[in-house]
Amino acid sequence: MDPLDALPRIALAHLPTPIVQIPQLSARLGCELFVKRDDVTGGAESGNKLRKLEFLMAEALDQGCDTVLTTGGIQSNHARATALVCARLGLACVLFLRVDDPFAPLPLTGNVLLDALAGATIRPITREQYRTRDELMAAAARTLELSGKKPYVVPEGGSNGLGALGYVRAMREVRTQIDSGLAGDPRPFDVIVHACGSGGTAAGIALGAARYGVARTVRPMAVCDSADYFQRRVEAQMHEARARCSGLPASPPFVVDDAGKGPAYAVTTSEQRAFLVDVARTSGVVLDPVYTGKAMFGLGLAIKRGEVPAGARVLFVHTGGLPGLLAAAESFHEEAR
Ligand SMILES: Cc1ncc(COP(=O)(O)O)c(C=O)c1O
Repeated sequence: MDPLDALPRIALAHLPTPIVQIPQLSARLGCELFVKRDDVTGGAESGNKLRKLEFLMAEALDQGCDTVLTTGGIQSNHARATALVCARLGLACVLFLRVDDPFAPLPLTGNVLLDALAGATIRPITREQYRTRDELMAAAARTLELSGKKPYVVPEGGSNGLGALGYVRAMREVRTQIDSGLAGDPRPFDVIVHACGSGGTAAGIALGAARYGVARTVRPMAVCDSADYFQRRVEAQMHEARARCSGLPASPPFVVDDAGKGPAYAVTTSEQRAFLVDVARTSGVVLDPVYTGKAMFGLGLAIKRGEVPAGARVLFVHTGGLPGLLAAAESFHEEAR
């Protein structure tokens, strides 16, 4: 038996997600592009976070927890997925969301609207408080315990060794799809490309791609911070994942690329926004400005620089993020007209 199947997991995502070949994007980018549609792992809770939550929420339920605490930026897709899953499982949910002004009214748009619909308690925190988010959540968990609750803390992005196993499992799913002829010819991909914001998806994909022979290498596209920072952070999460599940490879190949990240987290250039609009208009694939748009934009740059060879067989994992795009509507007033 695969050791992955010995771990508690609850089925939350609609799986397997399809792999589609989009010739217009292959032509535009100059590679043989396949897209793994993890933007359709579910309904409003959809995206990459559901795969991590399958393992994390199983642990929360196993421990008899009744309240889940997690954190992220104000338009966090992870926070929204967690809030909706908690509502489904009958758990209370507290979200520590980073804002510029913690006293300003919350913008009820995109992910925040869905958090509110799910009945999550939103605690706005400053950028400064966000730097000590883990301590903040640990303190809140202790306070909840004193009032008789059983809290479970999920780190930013659901990114730790346990959450990463969701993407190890996803790579096993891709292996089955390759073997069934659902990914073009039955060769492994040259490279897997995806957005990287807190590292858990990258850790799982790198471990799983090597474990199941899905791709020669993995190229996580950083959407903030630096390539060096993520290289270390992903390594640390791979280490944790190996401690949770035997049989995972020691040093799977992956190279973090930060060339497409733009000015800052959740801030885009006009060129990046125009790229996202062009992708939607020519292929019907809708990317978001915070994660997937920057990742595919970065793939284009990597091909131009020759770091991903022209004509390579690329699997782009579309990790979701649509509510974040809708919340950023105003920034598209020029490019989307
Ligand atoms: C849509 C989307 N794509 C990609 C990511 C990055 O995944 P990870 O946090 O595991 O690096 C996130 C979350 O941060 C996300 O919301």
